[in-house]
Parts: sequence; structure tokens; C-alpha cells
Amino acid sequence: MKKLIFILGFLLYVGSTNAQFKKGSPSSPSLLKGKAVYTQYCLPCHQADGGGVMNMNPPLIETTYVLGDKTQLINILLKGLNKPIVIDGDKYTNPMPAVSHLSDQQISDVLTYVRNSFGNKASAVSAAEVKAVRAKK
Ligand code: HEC
Repeated sequence: MKKLIFILGFLLYVGSTNAQFKKGSPSSPSLLKGKAVYTQYCLPCHQADGGGVMNMNPPLIETTYVLGDKTQLINILLKGLNKPIVIDGDKYTNPMPAVSHLSDQQISDVLTYVRNSFGNKASAVSAAEVKAVRAKK
């Protein structure tokens, strides 16, 4: 009997962790790959919780850049960003280096991850969309 309860508990546990991923529209493999890219290329500046570092690196939590126009967002990664911006009343003047060496797939994964993490909820970014923006220059 104890064994049965254990197995039931285990199944419930597995079920609930799966459900977490199924909630959003982006598929879980894409989010997991996006998290790996984020950890390697964005986390040192924007931090694990997307909160950034005040007056140095802006937060990625519900900003107009993260949630807004995808072309602009993709271009920040392809071209970097070098203009003073104000987020939540704090000014950021450090430049962000481009990460254009990442593949279209890596950029789509990391942006889909960012748009669906840290409390953000926005549509996925596809590799085709990144490719189209890259082609325009
Ligand atoms: C060397 C530090 C650094 C790295 C690495 C970095 N960023 Fe940034 N990021 C910045 C800074 C600084 C700004 C503000 C630039 C400005 O004001 O011109 C910024 C701005 C942004 C913005 C627009 C402003 C906002 O907060 O919404 C987004 C989106 C963004 N970064 C996403 C990313 C993503 C995704 C990665 C990883 C692929 C990344 N950054 C890697 C430092 C960094």
C-alpha cells in the first residue's frame, strides 16, 4: 500500500511539472534551449531573474523592448544597443554589445525564453523572423 501511495505521489509530481510547461504556447524544448543561451550570453549582465543591475544593465521584466515590437527586439541582439534609455525611472547609458554571432535558432530560443520568463508573457519569436530581420540589415 505504501508503495502504491508513493507511485501515485510520483505520478502527480511529474504531471504537475509537465503542466507548468504546457501552459504557455511556446514548446518546452524551445524554452529549455533558450534558458541555456540566456545563461551563457545574457545572465552575466541581466542576471538570473532578469532584474538587471541598477544603473548598469537594465531589467528585462515587462519592458516595452521585451514585450513590444519583435523587429526592434531582434535588432537589439543583432546590432546591440547604444543609446541612453530609462526603465522604471532608472537611466542606463552603458552600451550593450551585439550577439549577432548567435544562430537564428539561438536568438529565437533566447528571445522566446525572455518573453516568457521573469513574469513576462508574450508570443514566441521564430527562427524565420530572426532570419528575415537579419536579411534586411
Ligand atoms: C555586457 C552586458 C550585456 C549583455 C551580455 C547583454 N546585455 Fe542586454 N543590455 C545591456 C545594456 C547595458 C543595455 C542598455 C543599452 C543602452 O542603453 O543602450 C541592454 C539592453 C537590453 C534590452 C533592451 C532594454 C530592456 O531592458 O528591455 C534587451 C531586450 C536586452 N538587453 C536583452 C539582452 C539579451 C536577450 C541578451 C543575451 C542574448 C543580452 N541582452 C546580453 C547589457 C548587456
